[in-house]
Amino acid sequence: MADLPPLVQRAQDAALEVGMPLRREGTGPSCCLPDVGRFLAVLAAGCADGLIGEAGTGVGYGSAWMASAMPTSCRLVTVELDERRAAAARRVFADEPRVDVVHGDSSAELARRAPFDLLFADGGSRPATIVDLLRIGGRLVCDDVTPVDVLPADSPYRDHDPKREFFFGDPRLVAAEVVLPDLRNSVLVGTRVG
Ligand SMILES: C[S@@+](CC[C@H](N)C(=O)[O-])C[C@H]1O[C@@H](n2cnc3c(N)ncnc32)[C@H](O)[C@@H]1O
Repeated sequence: MADLPPLVQRAQDAALEVGMPLRREGTGPSCCLPDVGRFLAVLAAGCADGLIGEAGTGVGYGSAWMASAMPTSCRLVTVELDERRAAAARRVFADEPRVDVVHGDSSAELARRAPFDLLFADGGSRPATIVDLLRIGGRLVCDDVTPVDVLPADSPYRDHDPKREFFFGDPRLVAAEVVLPDLRNSVLVGTRVG
């Protein structure tokens, strides 16, 4: 596997500095998984002349993957409620003028910058509302989904998972669940068609 892009390395260092876990631990927020970052990078790479948004910056790990791959004509805005994390992310992107780290509530801040070509909904924004912020053809991504095959037999998510139900039930989206290489995590991705 290729070396980490320099921005991703910087975000990883920032996560260690502010004590944000690189993997899910307990119930607190953590950075997205590297394979989620790589998946986001694939989509970001197709956003020529586009605008990418992220709800919930953390320290900028997911944004770093997207910013490392996006075309030079693309911009990215990411919104974080926690002041200390937003400040850490600003330092990560200090030399990257195409990335705007906003301290505030993602619902309000993203709404005033729409429409987006790609949105990573990872903090504070409900998928149902955030779809309105995509242009037609734009893509929505959510992570922290567990493939049904590895859920415990008694998990209520086997029959009822609000995220899956939203992605596959909303007529505005053509959606898929993509299982990551660890086979223990997946992402939901939807393209806005209506
Ligand atoms: C899972 S972490 C984000 C990880 C990050 N997207 C990444 O890829 O590394 C979720 C973040 O959302 C932030 N958050 C929660 N509610 C928010 C809101 N209403 N507006 C903006 N950020 C919010 C939390 O403070 C936390 O840092």
